[in-house]
Amino acid sequence: MTDEPLSLATALASFDALWSPRVATRVNDYDVRVAKVRGEHVWHAHDDTDEFFLVLEGELRIALREPAGERTVRLPRGSVFTVPHGTEHRPSSPDGASILMFEPTGTSTVGDRHDEVPSHVDATTGHALDL
Ligand code: NI
Repeated sequence: MTDEPLSLATALASFDALWSPRVATRVNDYDVRVAKVRGEHVWHAHDDTDEFFLVLEGELRIALREPAGERTVRLPRGSVFTVPHGTEHRPSSPDGASILMFEPTGTSTVGDRHDEVPSHVDATTGHALDL
């Protein structure tokens, strides 16, 4: 974190790791995280917090298991979507995307409940930017 303005382009250019969010800034007790993604994340749920997504580049898909069944939402660049707490979800991006997430500090990327975490997914509460 810095007390100077931060270019999101600069932040995104500072790392290559996929599914491994960096904390760009904080707002009260929330993180603003940015991540690069490609392929599939893991099915998981955050029991106590909603999770906000903003797509900066590319297209993100989020599969959702809802009471009415499973569906996948598509978020092209510039789209926002909030996954409600308790809802199992699996983000994916066949062609790659850069995303911004807003969620309480300490929130795990793989939630409170999850399938087996594949090696390409970083189970983390977010990393500091190394600028
Ligand atoms: Ni999540």
